Amino acid sequence: MLREFGCSIAGAVTIGDPNSARRTQPRYEPVSEAEILQRLRRAASDGDLGSDDQSRSMLAGYQPKLLLACFDGNWYLPRGRAHSTHILKPRLAARPDGLAREHYGHALAVKLGLAHYGTELIGRGVRQYLVIERYDRVVNGETVTLIHQEDAAQALGLDWVDEDAKFQNPDAPRDSHRPSAYRFAEILGSLQGEGRPIADLLRRLTFTVLIGDNDAHAKNLAVLHLPGRSALADVYDAVPNLFQEGRIKCNLALAIDGSFDHRCISAGHLIREGERWNALGAGEAERIVTETLADFAKALDSVVVPPGVPAAVTAQLAWNVERLQTGHEIGERPSGYRRKRSRPAKTASGNR
Ligand SMILES: Nc1ncnc2c1ncn2[C@@H]1O[C@H](COP(=O)(O)OP(=O)(O)OP(=O)(O)O)[C@@H](O)[C@H]1O
Ligand SMILES: [Mg+2]
Repeated sequence: MLREFGCSIAGAVTIGDPNSARRTQPRYEPVSEAEILQRLRRAASDGDLGSDDQSRSMLAGYQPKLLLACFDGNWYLPRGRAHSTHILKPRLAARPDGLAREHYGHALAVKLGLAHYGTELIGRGVRQYLVIERYDRVVNGETVTLIHQEDAAQALGLDWVDEDAKFQNPDAPRDSHRPSAYRFAEILGSLQGEGRPIADLLRRLTFTVLIGDNDAHAKNLAVLHLPGRSALADVYDAVPNLFQEGRIKCNLALAIDGSFDHRCISAGHLIREGERWNALGAGEAERIVTETLADFAKALDSVVVPPGVPAAVTAQLAWNVERLQTGHEIGERPSGYRRKRSRPAKTASGNR
């Protein structure tokens, strides 16, 4: 079904009137900037995908979004079975800095090689929106081929009606109806083909802790089924969420070595979590965590912080990596803590 019809998994099977086949013919309809803004406003107010019933776009998730295709810098509405190439998220009044934080989280993931697609923050104020390129598409001219992705909730067969099922349960961490890093690692360990999805998962979880993303649940981790091999999908929806004024719950979506509380995590927790999967080589978990911490510290120096990201977020990210690199638990950041830029390494000529 997926190969022949190429639909996203959520809408892969449709039972309908065969005479309506003409309506599902794939085509792209040009859309103006004004209409994009209007559809984004509608998506934000109605909490839907900003589309109408002519489009079969299906995407999970809480945030409102709009699915569009972009060819040669021009935007189109995918109609019928046509595939989108980009996801657009509108700014929400309740979370005015949410898009900037998501864009920053993404830029850091790209720097660490954990994501390979682009995002762009467009406009300002209430008209601001985030453009996210899809990593599950191959675009050739106006031909869009879909790469099948399966999120961890689907791969683990979690109940898709229960909204809590995508989070590990701190009251019953071994509940088999809920995900855990271990259970997802088991799935990745069973994948065929080249690559080390398990090693990638440990890098991914280390990144989750470093940015303070409390929303890395089973629907925000996915497997990408590429031709001939499957891999851990690029990082997506990775937002430094924990460092917001008034937030009191510091629980992660998946425990790290048994600990849900972000403030109690140390590099040792991450290493032990990787080791307990029994799938990495001797000393490999420690090497992966150490390297990821070093890469992250460098990324903080080089990635430009998008306007709108609160200073407390950048300070906290620097605090997180400093604490983990010095063998401590993350703990509480003192309010006066400021980010220390690491000195650029001197070259032989002494210029930089
Ligand atoms: N860059 C991308 N390429 C392909 N698919 C993506 C990409 N980003 C997100 N997705 C898919 O779209 C779904 C929804 O996107 P996303 O997680 O960003 O939305 P959300 O509404 O913020 O989710 P949540 O409910 O976790 O807050 C994801 O679960 C994933 O399957
Ligand atoms: Mg999501």
